[in-house]
Amino acid sequence: MRVTINDIKEMKRRKEKIPMLTAYDYVTAKIVDEAGVPLILVGDSLGMVMLGYESTIPVTMDEMIHHTKAVVRGAKRALVVGDMPFMTYHVSVADALHNAARFIQEGGAQAVKLEGGEVVAEKVRRLVECGIPVMGHIGLTPQSMHQLGGFKVQGKVLEQARKLLNDAVVLEQSGAFTIVLECTPAPLSRLITEQVGIPTIGIGAGPDCDGQVQVISDILGLYTEFVPKHAKRFANLGQQVRNAVSTYISEVKSVSFPTMEHSYVMDESLIDAIASEARQSKRG
Ligand code: KIV
Repeated sequence: MRVTINDIKEMKRRKEKIPMLTAYDYVTAKIVDEAGVPLILVGDSLGMVMLGYESTIPVTMDEMIHHTKAVVRGAKRALVVGDMPFMTYHVSVADALHNAARFIQEGGAQAVKLEGGEVVAEKVRRLVECGIPVMGHIGLTPQSMHQLGGFKVQGKVLEQARKLLNDAVVLEQSGAFTIVLECTPAPLSRLITEQVGIPTIGIGAGPDCDGQVQVISDILGLYTEFVPKHAKRFANLGQQVRNAVSTYISEVKSVSFPTMEHSYVMDESLIDAIASEARQSKRG
């Protein structure tokens, strides 16, 4: 049975921490799902860690849908959240509905995530009214990096902190089922977590959020161009892959791979017969 938004909300009530990870493809989603992660985010971070863009801003709806489909095929149990890309939900409620519906209908996701607080409240309310569960995202919202002046911690000054608390309350009132808090100081994240009834999912937001989310490529050591302070490396797969590829290259060059163990056999007499036919037709 697939995890539902009620299961996720219930985890907060039971004070059970909620682990969430990103995934962008079938194989990874399958592993993450089988390991028991209840929430998978197809983040627009895929623009940077899978597609090589410099930020999340160039990511398109079609790219997101393509990856969401693959993740949904791999994840049989986790609730899959599709991340709405830059400017696909700001212009109008109609746009937000149309694009969110694509995640659910075409992509097969069970929920969508959008960045922003009070400014997107009307859109959140309409999506929820139309039956689309919404995860909010406040604090450092990478789609607004130009406005924020880069990837910076948010909420360190009084006015910002007040605004973030208000954004979280408004998102809950608008019907969001969870809120991502990205790069907010730990004491502010704790206060927000206490003040809202829905789960907060932190990334660089301290240990007191109801859950934690990380970009899978960061925790596996696969994306090394920029490693945020909040990303702990649980494995160094990048180095392991490099080592494996070097070994492959040298084995191919020295013909120690493939051996007969990795090859297919056939009746040698057939080869002799074909070889002799080939020799005769060359002569004739
Ligand atoms: O795109 C993403 O991966 C995200 C997470 C960092 C929350 O938005």
